[in-house]
Amino acid sequence: MSQIIALTNQKGGVGKTTSAVNLAASLAALDRRVLLVDLDPQGHASMGSGIDKYALDKSVLDVLLGEATAAETIVKKLAVKYDVLPGNGDLTAAEVELLDRDKSESCLTTALGSVADEYDVVLIDCPPSLNMLTVNALTASDSVLIPLQCEFYALEGLSALLDTVEQIKQNVNSDLAIAGILRTMYDKRTSLTREVDKQLRDYFGDMLLKTTIPRNVKVAEAPSHGLPVTQYARFSRGSQAYRVLAKEIIRRLAL
Ligand SMILES: Nc1ncnc2c1ncn2[C@@H]1O[C@H](COP(=O)(O)OP(=O)(O)OP(=O)(O)O)[C@@H](O)[C@H]1O
Ligand SMILES: [Mg+2]
Repeated sequence: MSQIIALTNQKGGVGKTTSAVNLAASLAALDRRVLLVDLDPQGHASMGSGIDKYALDKSVLDVLLGEATAAETIVKKLAVKYDVLPGNGDLTAAEVELLDRDKSESCLTTALGSVADEYDVVLIDCPPSLNMLTVNALTASDSVLIPLQCEFYALEGLSALLDTVEQIKQNVNSDLAIAGILRTMYDKRTSLTREVDKQLRDYFGDMLLKTTIPRNVKVAEAPSHGLPVTQYARFSRGSQAYRVLAKEIIRRLAL
């Protein structure tokens, strides 16, 4: 059975997609069989993995609606070393279409059930909102990885996110765990970072991952080449940080 991890934070631009793509690549480099699910209408995880989101025959939306199987929709044999269940703008329709279904929060759980045995780990890149897609991701997952930027408003949305996780636990997925809080675009030279860091440690203790991801221009450039930074610039600081993160996640979750 695979472990399913949702990367989520309803705040936009905090490094969810970047972390999903690079963690997928780093876990694959450590011989884990990895599936990356792009559950964001922006389709950035697909693009960042070298998939043209405009040219998809089928997407994760078809799978969610039961109109295609995961197996026939997953894109394999990419230049990246993991498989992708791609998403694109079609997913904007998901909110409405899913609400019509029975057990609308469990569509992704059902969809992934048939391929779970083929992967050691499934990473789900969530949209920047606590909508039905994110609820599907949290319902299907074993744990949640929360990327955040150490800035003034970083903590503001966190309690709403943790409340949502708690609700999902109470209602549909009692085993849902927090895999960790990941500090991205990290610059410990600023006093604001140190201040937010202290608050995070005080509030979240062990939930805070030891690895931090530095702000690094190679990380930002890599998606335009359709590659993770670990392949685009493997000796960059960003690449090294994601490799260390993969090892920490493997230890923490016994992957
Ligand atoms: N470590 C980093 N160093 C430099 N730039 C970064 C780093 N991490 C992410 N970025 C850049 O920050 C921007 C936001 O990152 P990303 O798209 O991963 O965030 P997101 O949380 O997925 O956003 P959204 O909420 O829109 O889905 C992107 O332009 C990305 O290239
Ligand atoms: Mg994103």
